[in-house]
Amino acid sequence: MMEHALFIRGLLDPTEDTLIQTANQFAVEYGELLRKARKQDCRAMGMTEEALAETMKIRDFKAAGAKGILKCEIASIILPLLADHVLREANHYIRLLETGKEG
Ligand SMILES: [Fe+2]
Repeated sequence: MMEHALFIRGLLDPTEDTLIQTANQFAVEYGELLRKARKQDCRAMGMTEEALAETMKIRDFKAAGAKGILKCEIASIILPLLADHVLREANHYIRLLETGKEG
């Protein structure tokens, strides 16, 4: 998800300042999650819930982005198919995290 945030940030038109900042913030937050995960046992320390909450936020960002790109309301070089693809990957990751919570 961090890489998604980074490349979304890079593919937005420079005029999309707010979206660029939001994508950058997701990259920073996922970077923090990765640093925390490397220091501790993810499941024992509630990392799954934190990752799930962060991924639901980026999923919503991607869903809004995909809709905006399709409606030509967002200036970028992101193809609608790519926007849909990264949205699906966020939903897939959410499913994996939810499955992990049960185990
Ligand atoms: Fe992919």
